Amino acid sequence: MTMSVRTAAEARPLGRVFRLPGVYRPQEDTALLSGVLAADTSIGCGKRCADLGTGSGALAIALARTGATVVAADISMRALASAWMNTVLRALPIGLIRGGLPETVEAGPYDVVAANPPYVPSPVPAVRSSRAWDAGPDGRAMLDPLCAAAPSLLTRTGALYLVQSTMSDVDKTRFALAAGGLRSEVVARAEVPFGPVVSGRLDYLIDRGFVRPGERTEELVVLRAAR
Ligand SMILES: C[S@@+](CC[C@H](N)C(=O)[O-])C[C@H]1O[C@@H](n2cnc3c(N)ncnc32)[C@H](O)[C@@H]1O
Repeated sequence: MTMSVRTAAEARPLGRVFRLPGVYRPQEDTALLSGVLAADTSIGCGKRCADLGTGSGALAIALARTGATVVAADISMRALASAWMNTVLRALPIGLIRGGLPETVEAGPYDVVAANPPYVPSPVPAVRSSRAWDAGPDGRAMLDPLCAAAPSLLTRTGALYLVQSTMSDVDKTRFALAAGGLRSEVVARAEVPFGPVVSGRLDYLIDRGFVRPGERTEELVVLRAAR
């Protein structure tokens, strides 16, 4: 299954999203992953799902709309409050977890885990206002721990769906997942123009070889990983 961002975005429009200041606005990565989740007909009633790093709750909503039981985790209280508001407005029951991987693992395992983690390489450590996207010098500050924890997040037949930029090394993600006994495949791709975060640090990204001079787009990839 490979879908374009346009198809993904059209899969089921999210509608108006309430966001407290500083909470990640659902973007192309959100839409790409959300479309993939909506297209997976195995997700539905009786399935237990988690949205790790839920932000405004967009992916949790995509999962809950299938009838699945969903928990949404985020390190940010503002994100959790926004996700709560968005799910209440849609009358979707979703459990909230304040925290990250350890807390989500503890509440698991899950049939499906969705994650749109921070993955933009950053010259400086993430701070509160940038932790939705800044992910350390190689963009893998959350991707690596997520891959390592993936087997303990999933039931025996569970699947992890994660979205990242090719800038933050998709092969490394796949190797790390394989090291935990998970087979992965790319299930969706989209070429998107650089947003303000990447545009604002182009010199750094070119300097470190993440972006070629003259490039103005990046590729987003959704991976599906399972045993
Ligand atoms: C790229 S945003 C994605 C938001 C939302 N899932 C979406 O797709 O629109 C990443 C989210 O991860 C959260 N986050 C960052 N580091 C985290 C961590 N260590 N544990 C849990 N959540 C984290 C941020 O607060 C942010 O809401």
